[in-house]
Amino acid sequence: MNDKKLKWGILGAARVNERLLPAIIEAPNSQLVAIASRRAGAAKATLEKYAPCYTDSVACYDYMDALINDKNVEAVYCPMANEEHAEWAIKAINAGKHILIEKPMAITVADIERIEAAAKAKNVKVMEGFMYRFHPQHARIQEIVESGLIGDVLSARASYSFLMKAARMYRINRSMADGGGALWDIGPYAIHSLRWCFGLEPKSVIAHAKLNEHGADTAMSGVLDFGQDAEGRARFGHFDISFERSRKSEYEIIGTKGWVKCHAAWVFQNDVPVISWATEDGKYAEERFAPSNHFNLEIAHFSDCVLNDMAPLLTFEDAKANCKALEMALQAAAK
Ligand SMILES: NC(=O)c1ccc[n+]([C@@H]2O[C@H](COP(=O)([O-])OP(=O)(O)OC[C@H]3O[C@@H](n4cnc5c(N)ncnc54)[C@H](OP(=O)(O)O)[C@@H]3O)[C@@H](O)[C@H]2O)c1
Repeated sequence: MNDKKLKWGILGAARVNERLLPAIIEAPNSQLVAIASRRAGAAKATLEKYAPCYTDSVACYDYMDALINDKNVEAVYCPMANEEHAEWAIKAINAGKHILIEKPMAITVADIERIEAAAKAKNVKVMEGFMYRFHPQHARIQEIVESGLIGDVLSARASYSFLMKAARMYRINRSMADGGGALWDIGPYAIHSLRWCFGLEPKSVIAHAKLNEHGADTAMSGVLDFGQDAEGRARFGHFDISFERSRKSEYEIIGTKGWVKCHAAWVFQNDVPVISWATEDGKYAEERFAPSNHFNLEIAHFSDCVLNDMAPLLTFEDAKANCKALEMALQAAAK
């Protein structure tokens, strides 16, 4: 093992830094050295808000190139707006930085291919930021499914939502095609969890969306067709995402003998995560987990991958497949 700390820079004074900035500071193999924003003073204000003890040791920049060209920065965390990820990731990669890109990695498969080509050329690590995958509750669900307890998986449902506050309406001021709306914000979780439930890629997608005046979806619901199994049984994945209702981040897998459910994929550090399952022969259980911070685990994992030259858990193949399914949903909803 290597006891070196990876030196991180944050590209953007985004709201999600509330979670990721402390995670970079707290991960034992990571060190925050810089943060940048294009809004004057916003980087410094973010640091003062979430890590006031670090204002002397972390560089604050009012333009992004300063961070990208900072030789002290080894890895970048990119929480910029969805449609900006590809452009800025490629700039960071070309400057030799490893990069953790918030979900979605990009809003077209072609852009992810460009990121991948740049990363290969510069020999740097890149990962899409699906922090939820690092929470132990999902490994337990996988264990339950693989044990055969719920039989063959034939259906999955993913429901993700939160109420978009008035102050944050700038996030839905552009069309779905330009990266706005629920599809690119919470849709990546829904599609990612459905693909993971089946361990397959969808053959087709149908979707209905409610669009606002900018062409951004404020709610979308749809079905992913994962094809028939060897016995000719249908395998559908249902997703339901919305900015118009209360917070929900659950998925459920239904098999031939029972079901298993994750009650909250967006679990906070001090929450007690719960999964439940039931079988046709009358068994029912709720399982509770010790609190665990998936943001810290995600950062520690990516630092470990860079420091010890390991492949990140979440691959380019996964990012491209997720984006392809999101593009299919977008096209279906646009019809
Ligand atoms: N993993 C998670 O749990 C999680 C949660 C939420 C979001 N996300 C992802 O993280 C990324 C950022 O999401 P977010 O909700 O944190 O976005 P956000 O607050 O809207 O910030 C996105 C970018 O917009 C700029 N910005 C921030 N506040 C602004 C404001 N008041 N007016 C104008 N521009 C502003 C910032 O760039 P400048 O500093 O350069 O201006 C920032 O990098 C997205 O890709 C999203 O999908 C992930």
